[in-house]
Amino acid sequence: MADLLLKKGKIVFMDGIREGDVVVNGGKIVEIAADYREEATRVIDCQDKFIFPGVIDAHVHMRVPGTEYKEDFATGSMAAVSGGVTSFLDMPNNVPPIISKKMLTEKRGLADGQSFANYGFFFGATDDNVDEIKRISNVPGIKVYMGQSTGNLIVRKDEVLEQIFSYGKFPVVAHAESQECLTRFAEEYAGSDARSRADFHSVVRPSECAREAVKHVLHLAKKYDARVHIAHASTAEEIDVIRKFKTDKVTCEVTPHHLVFDDTSYEKLGLKLKVNPPIRTRADVEALWAAITDGTVDIVASDHAPHLLSEKDAEYEACPAGIPGVETILPVMLDAVNKGLLNLDRVAQLLSAGPARIFGIKGKGRIEVGYDADLVIIDMDVEKKISNAQMLTKCAWTPWDGMTLKGWPVMTIIGGEVMYESGGGAGGASAGVGKFVSSRRAGELDFLQ
Ligand code: NCD
Ligand code: ZN
Repeated sequence: MADLLLKKGKIVFMDGIREGDVVVNGGKIVEIAADYREEATRVIDCQDKFIFPGVIDAHVHMRVPGTEYKEDFATGSMAAVSGGVTSFLDMPNNVPPIISKKMLTEKRGLADGQSFANYGFFFGATDDNVDEIKRISNVPGIKVYMGQSTGNLIVRKDEVLEQIFSYGKFPVVAHAESQECLTRFAEEYAGSDARSRADFHSVVRPSECAREAVKHVLHLAKKYDARVHIAHASTAEEIDVIRKFKTDKVTCEVTPHHLVFDDTSYEKLGLKLKVNPPIRTRADVEALWAAITDGTVDIVASDHAPHLLSEKDAEYEACPAGIPGVETILPVMLDAVNKGLLNLDRVAQLLSAGPARIFGIKGKGRIEVGYDADLVIIDMDVEKKISNAQMLTKCAWTPWDGMTLKGWPVMTIIGGEVMYESGGGAGGASAGVGKFVSSRRAGELDFLQ
């Protein structure tokens, strides 16, 4: 007898949505049927709901080791799972940064038995750790900061970038803001009155710094025929460049905050919106949506970068860049579906199948026989107002506070086990805070390489 039967849901496949039953056994999807007639240990009625492949958030900062007071694997993964994220890929800008094989091993030890969601760890590049890159295995990619952000990871030397691309074993994930350009603008605005503007961060880190870096890194990747992934593209100019260079090996990510907020949002949210790359103009937001529609954008990832409100509530210089997002990424995209901006099967490509393909994550990202049973049940009719008080992230706030979104995950299943159930029923009648119904921890992902 099968462990679990998801009955009569609208199954979100890569090429469309069809009603049927998903049968799970031993943590895997074992059958997809129009009408499964055998018994199962547990049957979940999915009538009027969607069965969606578990979200893989390919860009998060869970803050272990070093700044666990902002987030840790337990809190960060609970936030993730409550929002339908079943796997996440964690960035290496920790304290200290993950730039040696030894640090990577230690981080794996710290995560062991802690996370409710599956996870993988990016490895950080510096000007002198190419030897370490050649010693590691089972990582989704190498993170290259071309400009400084939170933490002090950066690659300044071109010959090092060339060595990383020529190695080619892992995709290179680029935070593409040119340090030379950022420095130029920082100097130009030193002591300027513009520093008191609400949108100063967007002024002092302008789109041309992103364009320069993207151009540079795409030329290098082309030279070595290497895989490169542009993290958090945020401007129309970057999209234009990426579109020209686009191949299977050139992939592109955008974040929910760059798809929703624009430089007028600072009025309400102030420096809470300080993030790298900065929030851009409405024209940029529109260019990102167009790039989602035409396929230039491969994935949406949260860049979940939690900092405490007490830290964000500071003057410009002292305010850390970064905003949380792992627990709102799926609802924000479902709300966009309800607003007619894209289809639900496109969301599955952007949030689940896309990350699995780009980073070579084995057995995940789609609903197919033989794949892991990481699944989210979605009710597109539930409406909920987001509040800081409901957030499970340790930083306890969200820039979406006070906003109402329509379309929510109501159940998260990992490895065939129901992990989380929301309080909300269909139609939003009793939408509320949900609960964890399993304390099972997940493990590290396997990457094809
Ligand atoms: C990130 C953080 O806080 O770790 N901040 C951010 O603004 N995105 C760092 C980063 O990846 O840039
Ligand atoms: Zn980041």
